[in-house]
Amino acid sequence: DMMREVLGLKELEKKIKNRLQLRDVIVVAGDSDQSPWVKKEMGRACVARIKELLEGNTIVAVTGGTTLAAVAEMMTPDSKYRDVLFVPARGGLGEDVKNQANTICARMAEKAMGRYRLLHVPDQLSHETYQSIIEEPAIKEVLDLIKASSIVIHGIGDAKTMAERRKTAPEEMEKIEKNRAVAEAFGYYFDQEGKVVHKVNTVGIQLEDVQKVKHVIAVAGGASKAKAIKAYMKQAHHSVLITDEGAAKELIRD
Ligand code: BG6
Repeated sequence: DMMREVLGLKELEKKIKNRLQLRDVIVVAGDSDQSPWVKKEMGRACVARIKELLEGNTIVAVTGGTTLAAVAEMMTPDSKYRDVLFVPARGGLGEDVKNQANTICARMAEKAMGRYRLLHVPDQLSHETYQSIIEEPAIKEVLDLIKASSIVIHGIGDAKTMAERRKTAPEEMEKIEKNRAVAEAFGYYFDQEGKVVHKVNTVGIQLEDVQKVKHVIAVAGGASKAKAIKAYMKQAHHSVLITDEGAAKELIRD
């Protein structure tokens, strides 16, 4: 903690917490755009925070992404995880397997020696198939568990980066650009005021649900994500932000 004081990280945390009006902010040293290990440091900080929040039968919902993959890698077993259930926050959002919420959920639970349930729903569904699939008992059961989660851990992406990574269809791409989306989280795209301008349709947690979850932790860093973080946080004041120095310095600029 002395070291964090010397590095000025505590000062950065205080400034960002006040400026973005968040529940809490944790800043780790470095910039994950430059050094890959910084993502792991955010992961370590996130794991420590999760452990503080666990109480009895907690359901923890997680999204996909490389940052959440780093959180999973840093997870360590703890007797506290015996009664914890990990679930993916939402169904498929067009990510590669390694970045999918299901993959990360299973990995995190294995590392924690906790339990997990997965969502087996295809990404692109017609309206009718979608309606019948969410009534399937096995799917419905998992969806109910997701809705009952009291901790949600998620990543935040730059809108354009995410839209491209998901191989978004040209007409949707146009909509995202025309509406000046700068941030993405949970498959929702936000403009710089934090207003939703587009969403990917899938089952699981919806943005309205996120606002009601007891503990929400956003993990996102790198100077290149500062704009996205700032925009997303405008509508997520009850969240805890775990970020890095690279993003933090941009967040307090001007
Ligand atoms: C995706 C999530 O899997 O990861 C997005 O669905 C999130 O909501 C993104 O923005 C973040 O990815 P990364 O690799 O930048 O951590």
